[in-house]
Amino acid sequence: MHLLTAFLVLIALARAEETCLTANQDDPYNQFGTKTAYIFANRGISNINRAHKIPGCQPIAFWSMNRAGSTNPEPDEIEALRNLTDLKLNIIDNYKNHLRNTNHQMCLADRILLEEWSWNPRHNLTFAGDLTSYGYITTQQLAQTWKSKFPELFTDNRHDYLFKYVNDKLFSTTFKAFTEGLFKAQADGLDLPKENDEKLLVPYKFCDAWKKNVDENKETLTQREIFESKLEYKQMITNISRRLGFNYDVEMATVRNMYQMCRYVKAWDVTHYSPWCTVFTREDLRRLEYAEDLETYYKYGPGNELNKKIGCSYIKDMISFFKNHTENEMVQQPRTVVHLTDAESILLAVNVMDGRVDTTPLTGDNYHTAAVQARKWTTSSIAPYNANLAAVLYKCTLNGNFQINDRYQVLFLENEIPMSLVGCRVGLCDWSHVSATLGTIADKCDLQSCNHATSPTYFSGISFALSVFILRFTTL
Ligand SMILES: *[C@@H]1O[C@H](CO)[C@@H](O)[C@H](O)[C@H]1NC(C)=O
Ligand SMILES: *[C@@H]1O[C@H](CO)[C@@H](O)[C@H](O)[C@H]1NC(C)=O
Ligand SMILES: *[C@@H]1O[C@H](CO)[C@@H](O)[C@H](O)[C@H]1NC(C)=O
Ligand SMILES: *[C@@H]1O[C@H](CO)[C@@H](O)[C@H](O)[C@H]1NC(C)=O
Repeated sequence: MHLLTAFLVLIALARAEETCLTANQDDPYNQFGTKTAYIFANRGISNINRAHKIPGCQPIAFWSMNRAGSTNPEPDEIEALRNLTDLKLNIIDNYKNHLRNTNHQMCLADRILLEEWSWNPRHNLTFAGDLTSYGYITTQQLAQTWKSKFPELFTDNRHDYLFKYVNDKLFSTTFKAFTEGLFKAQADGLDLPKENDEKLLVPYKFCDAWKKNVDENKETLTQREIFESKLEYKQMITNISRRLGFNYDVEMATVRNMYQMCRYVKAWDVTHYSPWCTVFTREDLRRLEYAEDLETYYKYGPGNELNKKIGCSYIKDMISFFKNHTENEMVQQPRTVVHLTDAESILLAVNVMDGRVDTTPLTGDNYHTAAVQARKWTTSSIAPYNANLAAVLYKCTLNGNFQINDRYQVLFLENEIPMSLVGCRVGLCDWSHVSATLGTIADKCDLQSCNHATSPTYFSGISFALSVFILRFTTL
């Protein structure tokens, strides 16, 4: 009898799928889309830390977009995330009462981690959406990184700078962190030049055509929904539910809340385990990441042509700034333009530059294809917390570097890594090439057309999957 029991236990153990975040400490999966901590987004960065040093060239102007560091939950998330407290108690009960299905379980160390989690009451409406203390530090660090790479441009002269940001709570704190990173305690008294024109900084919030045809258009989420309605996705939810000890499937919304809490906590404190991440396998996290990629691809990326019409305003700003420097021999001020901005703006800007072009469009059906597994459009590496996009103008002596054939060069860096752009060499482009490509985009950039919300020309641009759908309806 004892032997039989032992035998049955052995069989059960052999078949059980135990997940154990705490046992996989050398290689946990930390690519969490728009809520990825910066430190996980650009692994291996030390290798390319010298990309900004270009023989025979001097940096003369710096233009950048910088996303804020990690933030607290938004007002509309607080209640659902706080409710995870009840879910946690149920999970602990399930394990205590041995109700669980032994084929799927969390290891003891993970369960203890989850048991010790509690909702922080400071995450209330007063502090909703604010920069966290870790986000404050990483923002200071990003500013210091820029200063150490480009000391010629990040000077102590306030007239060398122009800061652009929306003057709300998050961005005034981000400004404070960034400028403290540059000027330490002196930052406060400096009265640095700044602009707060929201229409230029977050054009998508003011573009009726984009709001109507993309943001509020249900078709934008079609591919994400197709992916989430796949059998595989439902099985993932079943597996997660069994792992938590439920013999029914939890709601999709519950899975989303657990994922949200998992990635928030990791972005607030990268040195510790995030308790809610214990409920997911690595493959679950990769699917959840792809679901968000599908959303950003159609909302801000190549999935809809209209996205380029808004993204162009950032390029226009950059080109006009660089023109001032290439068309005047005298040193122009400002020399350093710093936009403090959000994930949406960075995605839009990268998209309009063709910074992440996939030959196969991302869809809800092709997750398992090699093209999607190796996709360039990965939100985790484009728009993590503290995401940044920088363009640096260099002036070169033509005989100083045999590879350079234009006196002015522009280096494009995405999260400090040289961007791979057509017609350039590892992120370094001739100014004449930049003028011909991005300059044309800037010249054609006209946000006025945003107000023709129903213009049929916008429909024609909507990408393949969507246009098929819309054509069917407009021709009826
Ligand atoms: C939170 O839980 C309460 C009580 O169970 C429920 O009434 C409420 O709808 C939940 N809120 C959200 C946003 O899930
Ligand atoms: C949020 O928490 C802080 C500190 O615990 C408290 O001072 C504040 O009144 C709370 N705000 C709300 C809206 O409950
Ligand atoms: C669900 O778990 C089973 C093992 O019990 C595994 O074979 C399957 O791949 C899992 N499915 C998903 C979608 O994670
Ligand atoms: C470029 O120079 C013009 C004229 O001096 C100025 O009005 C404009 O603001 C400058 N643009 C940028 C982006 O610095």
